[in-house]
Amino acid sequence: MPRIFSGIQPSGELHIGNWLGAVQNWVRLQDSYDCIYCVVDLHAITGKYDAESLSRRTWDMAVGLLAAGIDPGRATLFVQSHVPEHSELQWLFNTVTPIGELERMTQFKDKATRFESVPAGLLTYPVLMAADILLYRADLVPVGEDQVQHLELAREISRKWNAEFGRGMDYFPEPKPLLTEAKRIVGLDGQGKMSKSLGNTIGLLEPPEDVWAKLRPAKTDPARVRRQDPGTPEHCNIYSLHRYFSPPGTVETVAGNCRGALWGCLDCKQVLAQHLNTALAPIRDRAAELEAHQGRVQQILGDGASRARRIARETLAFVREHMGLLPPTTT
Ligand code: TRP
Repeated sequence: MPRIFSGIQPSGELHIGNWLGAVQNWVRLQDSYDCIYCVVDLHAITGKYDAESLSRRTWDMAVGLLAAGIDPGRATLFVQSHVPEHSELQWLFNTVTPIGELERMTQFKDKATRFESVPAGLLTYPVLMAADILLYRADLVPVGEDQVQHLELAREISRKWNAEFGRGMDYFPEPKPLLTEAKRIVGLDGQGKMSKSLGNTIGLLEPPEDVWAKLRPAKTDPARVRRQDPGTPEHCNIYSLHRYFSPPGTVETVAGNCRGALWGCLDCKQVLAQHLNTALAPIRDRAAELEAHQGRVQQILGDGASRARRIARETLAFVREHMGLLPPTTT
């Protein structure tokens, strides 16, 4: 089975944007690939961050992924910092990565403007990402469009390492992006992409009351000022959510009632809340079950890290040898 690697940052909340955009796909891929999924806490510390909540956010992300259907019986799930080989391979890759390429990364250029003094970790972030993937010699990487440039760099690092140290062998593959159907999930503010940092999300594990408290004031078609104003469903973010969560018949009714101003936006939102809650209920239940048995989650993450580490150690032994490092003496 071809191998897949992907990572997600411990933002603290798995929301319906991540779920529809990435995690549902991760769950599906478990059927046909050897999947390795990682909560990338080391990537989450490359900017200013809250150290106090990082471990909780990492835990919550792992619980969210398991609740959403990542199955430790079929896939490997672990926390990046539990496998120190990620950092070690990053260091070794730093030696073959041109700084110019790193400075060219659009995400770096974008984020660097937020700092008076840019941390080196922000610049070398993509090298760690290359190490994540190549440590497992993964062939495919499910990512969004925004990570494609980083993946190109991972391929370049792979090529350069092979050329310099591979002794005629292409030890590292050239990992390819597995682009998910571009689902752009717009936030409840109707502005940008749904994202935790913009505070415009619906959490996957939020109780129905909280979901409703967020849905009720959410932006709809701006043309519908009064209830009797006809709307254009295609201009409404709530309608786009109906398309993901409501059955086809309901989606049609919603569109018709919006165009004909038969429903107010609140009516439409109530129906969405109902279907959203139906879809999310089993995920919330599984999360509650896991939180009630935290030892089980610890066990899963422990097993995941051991499995990952077995592969990682092999890769590093090869890399160290080929780069000429003296093997340590084992006593
Ligand atoms: N940089 C990715 C993001 O922000 C997360 C990530 C880290 C990743 N390492 C990875 C994704 C390896 C895929 C493969 O979304």
